[in-house]
Amino acid sequence: MRIDIITIHPDLLESPFKHSILKRAAQKGLVEVNLINLRDYSTNKQKQVDDYTFGGGAGMVMMIEPIAACINHLKSERTYDEIIYTSPDGELLQQKTCNHFSTLKNIIVLCGHYKGIDERVREYLITKEISIGDYVLSGGELAAAVMCDSIIRLLPGVLNDETSALTDSFQDDLLAPPVYTRPQEFNGWKVPDILMSGHTAEIEKWRHERSLERTQQRRPDLFKKTN
Ligand code: ADE
Repeated sequence: MRIDIITIHPDLLESPFKHSILKRAAQKGLVEVNLINLRDYSTNKQKQVDDYTFGGGAGMVMMIEPIAACINHLKSERTYDEIIYTSPDGELLQQKTCNHFSTLKNIIVLCGHYKGIDERVREYLITKEISIGDYVLSGGELAAAVMCDSIIRLLPGVLNDETSALTDSFQDDLLAPPVYTRPQEFNGWKVPDILMSGHTAEIEKWRHERSLERTQQRRPDLFKKTN
């Protein structure tokens, strides 16, 4: 999979892709993430990518010209399955969206900024708008990093059996059950006996019950969906 991220802060986005699972995914050749500096596509001497709002009002707006130049350049080199804009008023990112994105070959992620973006970008250049939650970040970069992380870890070969994405919370609209490791007792706080019993079927049953219980208590909205 190839992910081209268009941003005015490429430095801000470098670190998340240089560690742990995302780094390994790139090293194994399972994903290629390119950080593209939008300012490189500004024809302006000051490398300006934003301007005042027509009609007045506070805040600067991202201009369509450098964005169109950048997207057109990328599109001249390959076909893209999706051109995603990160924005608080986009569609809420959910596990099923991540699952779908992880099946795509080439995507562009455009990080939003300032007070907004010229509406014509949204109307004519973007194919999807994604929000990572009902709160406002100072820019779309962190949202892009969150979204890309959730996509890349799903690519076949990125996770091994032990860390398989199939057992993640949300994958079946249930939260994951509690897990424990050594020591078996700490401060008098014990690991549930069932987990030490060696009865695989009983353990699986216990885990499923805990998943249901936890989902019902913490996310009744999800619980209603599956029950
Ligand atoms: N940009 C600012 N806030 C955002 C959010 N919640 N999701 C995606 N992009 C954003």
